[in-house]
Amino acid sequence: MLTAAAKKNTVHRRMLFLLLAFLIVSAVGSWRNSERVSLWFRPKHVEEESKNRNIVSGTGNPGRKNDHRRINQTNHHREQEPSASDLIDNYDYDYCIKHRGTRGRWYINETMGKETFYALGPRSSKWNRVNKNNLSAVYSDNKYAWHDETVDSRGCRPIEPVNKERFCSVIQQLEIQRLFFVGDSLMHLQCNSLLSLLGYQVTDFFSLTKQKVNVTRTTIDCPDYPPIDFRFRRQNLGPNLRLTELSGRDDATRNHRQQFGPEIPFCTDGRGLNASDDGAMGHCPWMEDYVRSSKKTLLVLNQGAHFHSIETFQKSFDLFVQQFNAVAHYDDIVVFRNTAPGHKDCFSVQNKTVFFPNEMTHDIFLDRFATSLYDWNIFDDYNQLARKSLSSMQKSQSMYLNIYNMTILRPDGHSSENDCLHYMLPGPVDFWNHLLFTNLADLATAATAKAS
Ligand SMILES: *[C@@H]1O[C@H](CO)[C@@H](O)[C@H](O)[C@H]1NC(C)=O
Ligand SMILES: *[C@@H]1O[C@H](CO)[C@@H](O)[C@H](O)[C@H]1NC(C)=O
Ligand SMILES: *[C@@H]1O[C@H](CO)[C@@H](O)[C@H](O)[C@H]1NC(C)=O
Ligand SMILES: *[C@@H]1O[C@H](CO)[C@@H](O)[C@H](O)[C@H]1NC(C)=O
Ligand SMILES: *[C@@H]1O[C@H](CO)[C@@H](O)[C@H](O)[C@H]1NC(C)=O
Ligand SMILES: *[C@@H]1O[C@H](CO)[C@@H](O)[C@H](O)[C@H]1NC(C)=O
Ligand SMILES: *[C@@H]1O[C@H](CO)[C@@H](O)[C@H](O)[C@H]1NC(C)=O
Repeated sequence: MLTAAAKKNTVHRRMLFLLLAFLIVSAVGSWRNSERVSLWFRPKHVEEESKNRNIVSGTGNPGRKNDHRRINQTNHHREQEPSASDLIDNYDYDYCIKHRGTRGRWYINETMGKETFYALGPRSSKWNRVNKNNLSAVYSDNKYAWHDETVDSRGCRPIEPVNKERFCSVIQQLEIQRLFFVGDSLMHLQCNSLLSLLGYQVTDFFSLTKQKVNVTRTTIDCPDYPPIDFRFRRQNLGPNLRLTELSGRDDATRNHRQQFGPEIPFCTDGRGLNASDDGAMGHCPWMEDYVRSSKKTLLVLNQGAHFHSIETFQKSFDLFVQQFNAVAHYDDIVVFRNTAPGHKDCFSVQNKTVFFPNEMTHDIFLDRFATSLYDWNIFDDYNQLARKSLSSMQKSQSMYLNIYNMTILRPDGHSSENDCLHYMLPGPVDFWNHLLFTNLADLATAATAKAS
């Protein structure tokens, strides 16, 4: 149906294609040299021209689509079976990347659950011991998959689970040579999830216990490609400028240390020790590590959960952007993953499954699970601030990875009765990576389209 409809416009489209090709070729020169680069580069003429065209876009609003790039069908997606997006040659990368993850629903997909299972940590390991040889068994935290609304409304690529093959394909197309993650324990979870989904033993990269274990790996390997450096730094992005007033708060007890670490006025290493002598105004040590290599880097960043006022977050984030702008490499891709708050009394859900994820909405989340406990209620403000500040990021391409909307719909799978912020793995956190690599797959296709 899409192809038939698309053919009608062939003549018109050829003309547009020529115009586009000209615009892109002439823009690339100045683009390369310009100091400030936006990933969402879009020639103005094309935008205006395309407003008048009636484009097939599923159930969405025809005519509202406003970014049309011809992609080279033979080049596109060589390694994978064709997905829905292959059929649409007016694919709106910009829209898809910006909106994917924001609206949609969880549904049961046991096939995906089985395909993406790995055993890590007590809960899934215990389950695995019992069900290892049972082909029909699906781990409960892993049985839901995300159906994104952009698939229906705009024909966007559905969220594909990241595995070694998809990972390598995207990394190679984008010519990434280093993965660099910076953030707190939630980012550590995301790293553990990614490494596991790629088939690695997390313990080869990190020591998961206090016991000293020899770390034997620092790279991820893809066939016919140089080893990709892998780094995780458990730090704030910028300094954490003010001490929190914790007295008089009964939500900051010893039991909740995990979620309510104190704010600290300086950058620290993962153990809370001073990692930099630069003091409050100094840059965080991860940046030194970052500039040490000029390899093209996918930098995945987050902060939020250890902040306890909007002002502190903003100040720290602004300093981070300012300092990072001074050292950022032009070619790198910078992703800010936003932060999802936890779920109040999450274990009463696990006790008796009142809300299945596929029945959850943002409103139910706010009614039933939102809380000012641990300042979870201001995470959304942090996210909005980060999104805004990110747009002032210079030089590098930046992407705001919105995991908030999908994650708040998952009250299941949290770590424990006393920790309704972190999740056990595998579980919802895997979708942060699935989302990231689906967006990167779009970015890679867009880059290929631009180049051809
Ligand atoms: C598409 O890509 C193939 C393989 O790289 C190339 O041979 C062909 O000329 C390209 N076609 C267009 C229209 O760019
Ligand atoms: C997504 O989250 C934002 C808060 O960041 C909220 O305002 C919005 O309504 C949510 N969208 C949906 C579809 O739930
Ligand atoms: C479930 O996941 C599998 C594997 O990722 C996918 O091929 C399939 O299309 C999904 N099912 C539905 C109904 O989307
Ligand atoms: C295998 O798993 C299914 C689904 O959980 C369960 O119903 C069945 O009893 C299990 N079979 C065995 C032999 O354990
Ligand atoms: C770690 O490596 C050192 C030196 O190679 C070795 O002596 C030690 O036994 C190793 N420890 C573990 C836990 O593997
Ligand atoms: C860490 O550095 C800050 C700023 O220089 C200083 O105020 C603080 O006392 C130091 N803390 C430790 C544990 O060394
Ligand atoms: C589970 O339900 C029981 C009975 O309703 C309740 O006493 C208990 O506190 C619940 N456990 C959790 C972890 O919520």
